Amino acid sequence: MRIVILISGRGSNMQALLEAEYASAAPVQFVCVISNKAAAPGLQTAAAHGVPTEVLEHRQFPDRASFDAALAARIDAYQPDIVVLAGFMRVLTEDFVRHYANRLINVHPALLPAFPGLDTHARAIAAGVKLHGCTVHFVTPEVDAGPIIAQAAVPVLADDTPQTLAARVLRQEHRLFPQVISWLAQGRILMRENGTVEVRPGDRDVAADADVALVFPAR
Ligand code: GAR
Repeated sequence: MRIVILISGRGSNMQALLEAEYASAAPVQFVCVISNKAAAPGLQTAAAHGVPTEVLEHRQFPDRASFDAALAARIDAYQPDIVVLAGFMRVLTEDFVRHYANRLINVHPALLPAFPGLDTHARAIAAGVKLHGCTVHFVTPEVDAGPIIAQAAVPVLADDTPQTLAARVLRQEHRLFPQVISWLAQGRILMRENGTVEVRPGDRDVAADADVALVFPAR
């Protein structure tokens, strides 16, 4: 499975994807990392992992449509099966999203459909939610609204700041995202007719205990 990763900055999710181990029967190949910002630290990390990098600065384009068209042309030169948004902080045009229908995946730092958009951790604290987390989902034209593939939940502690909560969520992003890529490579992710996603169990999976819950506060 050939994958192009799009980043805008730090690239820690990209790094987690590059460093994860994937089943040899379902190999994953990261063919390029593209950033819309030349100063994105993640570009160095990608190069250090031997992955080709490209920069396509959105500021050089007169409008969103022309940037997205140029970006799609660069991506398609690598003939990817999947395009991954790993902290790619751009709203994408409908044409771009439709071009990669069912092949474009994003990680979002909240339990969607709660807290789409920006500043998710501060908003979760302000709302007083007790569980927060991250979501890996297929991208559709409406921002942060595409079919959910998998989620990880963490507690929100009484003394959390947006920074401490972000760090707790990010650790789960780094686990969840490679896991989803691995499932995709194994052909275990199924789009249902009603637009929701089912993850088929693997050969060695034990049945999940449906009564396990993350309860917080726990007492
Ligand atoms: C991550 O927390 C990711 O979920 C978030 O940006 C951060 C990127 O960090 N993405 C979004 O908010 C997308 N709307 P990283 O560059 O270290 O992976």
